[in-house]
Amino acid sequence: MSPRISEEKIEEIRKSVDIVDMISEYVQLKKQGRNFIGLCPFHGEKTPSFSVSPDKQLYHCFGCGAGGNVFSFLMELDGLSFIESVEKVAVRTNIELPDIGSSNEGTQRQDEDRKHWYKGHELAAKLFHHILSTTDEGREAREYLRKRGFTKEVIDQFQIGYAPNSWDFLTSFLEKRQLPMSEMAKCGLLAVREFDNKPFDRFRDRIMFPIWNKQGNIIAFGGRVLNEGNPKYLNSPESDVFNKSQTLYSFHIARPSMRKKNEAVLFEGYADVTSAWRAGIDNAVATLGTALTEGQGKMLRRNVDKVIICYDSDDAGQQAAYKNAQILEDLGLYVRVALLPDGNDPDDYIRDHGPERFVHNIIGQSLTFMGFKFRFYRRGKNLNDEGDRMEYIQQTLTEISKLQRAVERDHYLRQLADEFSLSLEALKQEQTQIFKARKKKENRHNNGTFESRPQVQKKLLSAHENAERILLAYMLQKRDIADQVQEKIGGTFNIDEHQAIAAHLYSFYAEGHEANSSLFIERLEDKRLKHLATELAMKTLNADMSEQELNDYITQIENYPKKQQIKQLKVEQKKAEELEQFQEAAMLAMEIMKIEQELKNSIRNNQ
Ligand code: CTP
Ligand code: MN
Repeated sequence: MSPRISEEKIEEIRKSVDIVDMISEYVQLKKQGRNFIGLCPFHGEKTPSFSVSPDKQLYHCFGCGAGGNVFSFLMELDGLSFIESVEKVAVRTNIELPDIGSSNEGTQRQDEDRKHWYKGHELAAKLFHHILSTTDEGREAREYLRKRGFTKEVIDQFQIGYAPNSWDFLTSFLEKRQLPMSEMAKCGLLAVREFDNKPFDRFRDRIMFPIWNKQGNIIAFGGRVLNEGNPKYLNSPESDVFNKSQTLYSFHIARPSMRKKNEAVLFEGYADVTSAWRAGIDNAVATLGTALTEGQGKMLRRNVDKVIICYDSDDAGQQAAYKNAQILEDLGLYVRVALLPDGNDPDDYIRDHGPERFVHNIIGQSLTFMGFKFRFYRRGKNLNDEGDRMEYIQQTLTEISKLQRAVERDHYLRQLADEFSLSLEALKQEQTQIFKARKKKENRHNNGTFESRPQVQKKLLSAHENAERILLAYMLQKRDIADQVQEKIGGTFNIDEHQAIAAHLYSFYAEGHEANSSLFIERLEDKRLKHLATELAMKTLNADMSEQELNDYITQIENYPKKQQIKQLKVEQKKAEELEQFQEAAMLAMEIMKIEQELKNSIRNNQ
């Protein structure tokens, strides 16, 4: 932890945010009893086992074990360092932080560089936007965009700009602002001449689309030529802060609306997103000229249940729509696909037919994924031709056979039977055969082993394990109970992790802290301990624990090793008897009796 940011300040920041609000930005939460539950963002699941406690300001997943406070959440989800997570909350709740940087030299250097990179991009975006919006140099670009239907609102909302046709315009601007040139080149904002390593403007005579990260920092640009030219789009190279496969264009702008509507619209191009925004579709994002990745799918899944894909009507667009729909559906999202007339991309359509028609006739008429597949397999086929027709029926039957629900299969089989005047019976039989053949093949591939998914499992705990957990849960919430336990058994918990948590807790209290499970958990460095302590801290407990209860639990804990010892001795006793070593066996028997007596006494003493 940084020595330069006081513990009080960190506490103040942690208390300034409600964990439910913060997590709600990433996970859809529903109230259930005292807690909120939702789908865990840390592992794939379809039934919720992720729970957030507003009382305790902690979260915990019963499926994968993740857990902690608001800072751990941001660290684990966004890959932030502790300090970054504190800063992030502070920014959100408007708490001033001294300019700290982290304690570690290396990280500090890195944070410093990152700040320069963000700063460089921010200044560049402002400059380009200014050039486009108001200057003479930007007139041609302005005209071009106006002709394409970009309004002033769109240009401002997406901070679209223009990079003039110069080799050193941005370079000298950044230099004047005293940003380190080497860093500006490293983050891809500038390019470098090979022969003398001199930086120069990478983007010249291009319309500039800033690309933001999840937090809303500009991390890259997409630069489009005016009119025709090659390459049409020049994107910033990937860097430490710009990973195309983990970034979606306009994600941070769309996020609030995605969450409200529980729906996202996925496009292929920048211009599609900006035009859709003009049509009131403000939950729109796009990939960055690359195929959709699982990571991007998960970014969406953390915010919505439903995604509408709206891609170019050309073959490449439809192929990509099919592939991406499958990726999203496999992640558990409900997918629909919106189709455009031939020769249109969304941006063209909006320009030609107006925003209202786009909203009603295109987005409003989107197909289910299955409906889309029926259309998709029809592409390039002549269904009057018998061969094409049979291929089509085979392909759609294969898709139908993947459906889980019998009613759904029935629905589509009937549709197919009607359309081609086929017997429903024959189609059903064919479908069943396809299903069986696939199952057989899958089993061969799986070789009998199935990947086991993390599942919510109520483990049956043994008495001592349960006793240790309950005691620790109380100890986390009440200092006086921790004191009593420390006095009675110290750190002699039977389970290693419990022992470790107890030891940390004793020293936490010894430092003069009052009970504060969130702060305690924050200070645990071992992730496993952090997760376990969170799970225990999330337990709902009775307000008080009686002396009797406390002693019962302690007895359980103390007696466990004795019980284990008896078990072990009994095994040895049996062995001795088998070997007819009767004297040995008798001695073991006496020892067993002695320990059993101790056990009895301890229980009696406790009553
Ligand atoms: N793209 C890219 N590099 C290219 C071409 C395309 O990065 N050389 C990306 C851009 O993100 C672009 C998207 O792929 O927005 C879709 O490409 P395309 O359909 O060719 O462009 P449009 O978005 O239709 O661009 P415009 O309407 O400006 O012609
Ligand atoms: Mn286009």
